[in-house]
Amino acid sequence: MRVSIFSLCLSFFSLSSLFSVVLEASVSDSSSPAVIIAHRGASGYLPEHSLAAKALAYGMGADYIEQDIVMSKDDALLVLHDPFLDRVTNVAAVYPGRARSDGRYYAMDFTLAEIKQLEMTEIFEEKNGQAVQKYPARFPLGQSTFRVSTLSEELELIQGLNHSMGKRIGIYPEIKAPALHRAAGKDISLAVLKELKKFGYLSAQDQVYVQCFDANELMRIDRELMPKLGMDLKLVQLIAMTDWGEGMSNNALGLKVEPYNYDWMLAPGAAEKIADYAEGIGPWFPMLLNADTAQANHMIREAHAAGLQVHPYTFRADPGQVPKAFKHFEDFVAYFIGTLKVDGVFTDFPDRAKVVRDRLLAQPL
Ligand code: G3P
Ligand code: CA
Repeated sequence: MRVSIFSLCLSFFSLSSLFSVVLEASVSDSSSPAVIIAHRGASGYLPEHSLAAKALAYGMGADYIEQDIVMSKDDALLVLHDPFLDRVTNVAAVYPGRARSDGRYYAMDFTLAEIKQLEMTEIFEEKNGQAVQKYPARFPLGQSTFRVSTLSEELELIQGLNHSMGKRIGIYPEIKAPALHRAAGKDISLAVLKELKKFGYLSAQDQVYVQCFDANELMRIDRELMPKLGMDLKLVQLIAMTDWGEGMSNNALGLKVEPYNYDWMLAPGAAEKIADYAEGIGPWFPMLLNADTAQANHMIREAHAAGLQVHPYTFRADPGQVPKAFKHFEDFVAYFIGTLKVDGVFTDFPDRAKVVRDRLLAQPL
């Protein structure tokens, strides 16, 4: 479903309506520079969420590095985009017969020791029994170098680099599928917060944003968990299209959890409600535009008025991923940072987005 809506939105981007504003793009004089968030690391170049992709993102000068987090059977915090292992590892070959009835291999059904036996690779899909790369121009399949890592391993890497390189590069953890974890008796939010606290992330001044698609869970983190733990981290409400089924317990546990409804987050007036428990929003980038004119709709204006930062996802340079109105990935990023004035971008290509951001910063106002 995400693909078809994406294609639809891309066709609505009119070149003529964007051309002039892209040329005039400049960074606002009143805001901080937009931050470059390395989405799953420098995932345009190395397998997503591998430590190598995180180190590369660091070296490329990202401001924040993202971690999607799920839990193993023995409650290890894993850096993985999905609660499943089957799209980035050889789990089906190593542990045949351990898929659930929906055919998926759930990370929460495997111990950390078992997961560490797996080879992790570039994201792939099964087509006619063959593994096909989702993004064919990226790092090739069939390499055995990479492993699933834990949140603590990744934080050690980033904090170690901060120490050795004298920088303060931030982290951007996403709590994945809290309802699914809760149904399995796991409190993923509490576990993530405790781990962050252990690594010294405590206050809103620290270089960390905690993101989640689940509004109820973010409110719980804000009102219940963080006060209990003596923490006050910046929170970001991710926004999906309701029909993606994001946050549903679409799993083999037989849960009856209602799909989350995101429609209210797209409607005028939502920003004030979100500002009650979060410091930012993470929308899918087309959500910020009027589909007919490609001009900004109410969302950025209202978010900024409510004191929220706006960090849209996901800016990819792969073939077919840049909206047709833009000649290049660079124009695409420049439009959102320079013209729409978003406060940051999630991107698989942090090096290229950073060049754009820095060029806009250097332009005379
Ligand atoms: O967290 C921001 C962005 O990553 C949301 O999409 O599905 O890649 O986690 P997803
Ligand atoms: Ca994410």
